[in-house]
Amino acid sequence: MKHLLSVRDLGADGISEIHELTDSFVEVSARAIPKVPALRGKTVAWLFYEDSTRTRTSFDTAARRLSADTVNFSVGSSSVNKGESLRDTALTIEAMGVDAIVVRHSSAGVPWQLTRWVDASVVNAGDGWHEHPTQALLDTYTLRRHFGSLEGRHIAIIGDIKHSRVAGSGVFAFAALGARVTLVAPPTLLPASVEGWPVEVAHDLDAVLPTVDVAYTLRMQLERQRGALLPSLREFTDRYGLTARRADSMLHHAMVMHPGPMNRGVELAAEVADGPRSLVLDQVRNGVPVRMAVLYLLLGSGRPDERATTEEEGAVHA
Ligand code: NCD
Repeated sequence: MKHLLSVRDLGADGISEIHELTDSFVEVSARAIPKVPALRGKTVAWLFYEDSTRTRTSFDTAARRLSADTVNFSVGSSSVNKGESLRDTALTIEAMGVDAIVVRHSSAGVPWQLTRWVDASVVNAGDGWHEHPTQALLDTYTLRRHFGSLEGRHIAIIGDIKHSRVAGSGVFAFAALGARVTLVAPPTLLPASVEGWPVEVAHDLDAVLPTVDVAYTLRMQLERQRGALLPSLREFTDRYGLTARRADSMLHHAMVMHPGPMNRGVELAAEVADGPRSLVLDQVRNGVPVRMAVLYLLLGSGRPDERATTEEEGAVHA
């Protein structure tokens, strides 16, 4: 694998290969010194044109645990000036000899554009409303760890699907692993077309909730919404918020997910997010070993979980 651009390129086998590798990095992460020399001498560049807390930190932690060097080219979205400037930035990074570029950008397709300009591996860390493949990989990993398998499981993705790259990758990963996916949202928060998406669509959350194994809630992405897509946030919460009362209508074993950052009390009630059904922190926790697996697949060689020798550890810390 040279790049990770879309989860759709992976299929069930590709996803499973990354998950198997993730298992070995979960083991590494549990060690007293959670670090292996697998990517020593490799350089990974962060190119984040959009704000990010968990994705960026998670990738950074993953790279460090693999002993890669990192360089930061992140720019505030205000200074973004697409076209030439993106290409110039890419060529500058390339000239410095980096091995991989992890990119987040507000425009769909930017990671693909980069692959035309650079030799480095490109990882899509979120492009506009389009895709967020590592999120889908960590979500499916989290579900496999919890349920054993996604085969035949019913997953509802709820809320602002229109603006969600998390949903854009998630539906394809969930479906590839055999889950049934239902999108639950008001018509104004659904994509213009879901043709070709392996999903059903519903508008009545109360009817769907008692049938699901997983309620995947999404952040209301107000910063991406132009015009009045909703009468009010209050009304959204009344019809689509996962409140404690609604969570009580779920099957006994059913679980709740959210990619973060959460608007507590809007799409997800605080007591549900912090309650026994919540997989939210497992998602965050699994993000690091999943991203280690991705970086290793793109750049690594040798045994992924090989321990650093004392001498190597010395060198790593020097
Ligand atoms: C998401 C993103 O930025 O796409 N967050 C994340 O990466 N975990 C979702 C969001 O912003 O709501």
